[in-house]
Amino acid sequence: MDLSARYPRLHVSSHPLVAHKLSLLRDRATEPKKFRELVRELSWLIGYEAMADLATQPMAVETPLEPMTGAELGPRIGLIPVLRAGLGMVDAMLELMPTAQVWHIGLYRDERSLQPVEYYNKLPDAATVQVCLILDPMLATGGSSAATVDILKHWGAARIKQVSLIAAPEGVATLSAAHPDVDIHVAAVDRALNERGYIVPGLGDAGDRQFGTFAGPSSEPSRGPADETIEVVRRLQRNLTGE
Ligand code: PRP
Ligand code: URA
Repeated sequence: MDLSARYPRLHVSSHPLVAHKLSLLRDRATEPKKFRELVRELSWLIGYEAMADLATQPMAVETPLEPMTGAELGPRIGLIPVLRAGLGMVDAMLELMPTAQVWHIGLYRDERSLQPVEYYNKLPDAATVQVCLILDPMLATGGSSAATVDILKHWGAARIKQVSLIAAPEGVATLSAAHPDVDIHVAAVDRALNERGYIVPGLGDAGDRQFGTFAGPSSEPSRGPADETIEVVRRLQRNLTGE
């Protein structure tokens, strides 16, 4: 789904390598080892695209032949993996930017209300970076992302980007409405949320698929939803269509 005209801060990769790797990632037969490798590779590709507009400053370089003016990254960068699923994106981003700081935020989504619950945050009092890249493979209702941006703005981050693999239109709408200044970089925007708040077609539960934590049929993304959950999803869908 191409929502880029409606949401100017939304950037959906059009790279064929991204499309290929994302299809392998979605496949239910992809086991955790391969899944982790693909998350890493896709993070590298989407992260590279997300950093295309970072500011640089002139830097003196002596090549073996003569001096020249090169470029170095200007802003201090912070990587903000959202636990758990964002962990799998960190190594690739550190390969791209070895000097980036990594600040973990622990959030999980309450299964019934779909609201984010914060359980880990060790940010110091004042921001130590200028640009924050939030790393989380899934942007579903957008609640976890909007809450993370709230935390980072309160911290004093000057610029914030969301780097994800798959978004739902509902999540893009929620995040864009709450924080219109935040860039959203994704490999794909899928069709919708299902009644349990999972992205469809999506890839299932990104944390469970990375870490092999399958707790049985009761925790499957296709299990029947609670009424409360259905109502939350319907409200998000009404917001999206403006009904
Ligand atoms: C997943 C995902 C996001 C969140 C997205 O985490 O990694 O953090 O859900 O959903 P939202 O956009 O509706 O808020 P989850 O709550 O499953 O926690 P986990 O990574 O610890 O499994
Ligand atoms: N979290 C996931 O891991 N997958 C979804 O589809 C939605 C939230």
